[in-house]
Amino acid sequence: MSSENFPFEIEDLEAGLAKQLMECFTGEMTGFVRVGPKKYFFPQKYKEEAAKIYNMPIKPDDVFVTSYPRSGTTWSQELVWMVANDLDYEKSNAIPLTERYPFLEFSICVHPENKKKFVEENSHSKENLELLEAVTQPGTDQLAVAPSPRFIKSHMPLSLLPPTLLDTAKMVYVARDPRDVAVSFYHLNKVMRTQGYTGDFKTYWNYFIQDLHHWAPYFEHLKEAWEKRDHPNMLFLFYEELSKDLPTYVRRVAKFFGKEYSDEEIDRLCNHLSIESFKNNKSVNYDVMKILGIMIPSDQAFIRKGKAGGWRDYFDDEMTQQAEKWIADNLKDTDLRFPHLNH
Ligand code: A3P
Repeated sequence: MSSENFPFEIEDLEAGLAKQLMECFTGEMTGFVRVGPKKYFFPQKYKEEAAKIYNMPIKPDDVFVTSYPRSGTTWSQELVWMVANDLDYEKSNAIPLTERYPFLEFSICVHPENKKKFVEENSHSKENLELLEAVTQPGTDQLAVAPSPRFIKSHMPLSLLPPTLLDTAKMVYVARDPRDVAVSFYHLNKVMRTQGYTGDFKTYWNYFIQDLHHWAPYFEHLKEAWEKRDHPNMLFLFYEELSKDLPTYVRRVAKFFGKEYSDEEIDRLCNHLSIESFKNNKSVNYDVMKILGIMIPSDQAFIRKGKAGGWRDYFDDEMTQQAEKWIADNLKDTDLRFPHLNH
């Protein structure tokens, strides 16, 4: 990769630590990298995509929905898409969210050995093989031929996305209490074969707070977006606010996209966006991952409980105190505050 068009250093994670991680994150078989001064953590395949993502051409009508994983991305994606597309229920039901929103960097999580396995397992079906190619193709390639306006899902922090992005296109960023994020991501890491996590939650949490996890460090990720929250092209949302008062935030999203909807339309949309509807909505529940065998079928799937504060069932006293301290330490140098916490 040329260093001219990518300004950050990409360092391999120390071999011993990488080996230890790959023993419990069995979806990665080569190793991991840390990127730039904030040391963003990725599987090694990021090296192939870093410059392509950083330099991807941005169009003024692009819409990015970004977040740290498991922060309510899917929920926000559907909300944003519906609001921006004049509440087109028919199209929303007919076209899966994964097709409406290429996932910019998913391909970095698909290790070549896993890809080979997925191809073999799906070789009985031409349709599956085509689907597999489509979802594992680098997002930049998918987007290069996607019609406008393009809706883009990414978990990349702002600093690793094109520097002109916010001055050109709109972004909705969603943040969530990191304890709920960790519980939710832990469950997903167990069922996604691209991650293949085999350990327990406590071990997972310890890697998470040491920033030894995909897209970490969590707080740097949030802070980068938070610093841009007053940019006219940035809308910063919290999962907990959506949970508490969805209609207010649907209106806020509508305003951001210059749309106006009646109270009845907002009510209907909130119904469509409820966790109950989502669980039964084939268009948003990432069925494609199960169809292709990338995700092991489980009740703990993509759309899971959809509650704020569920972390309490997973944290013992020691972890609770550790989490409080970790959150407080990371909020010392910023005015970022979670609206649901009494900081
Ligand atoms: P839980 O695992 O805590 O239930 P992402 O889309 O960023 O991966 O985030 C997934 C989290 O958002 C999961 O959290 C999922 O259940 C929750 N979620 C998805 N759709 C939701 C909805 N309509 N309402 C509330 N939460 C939702």
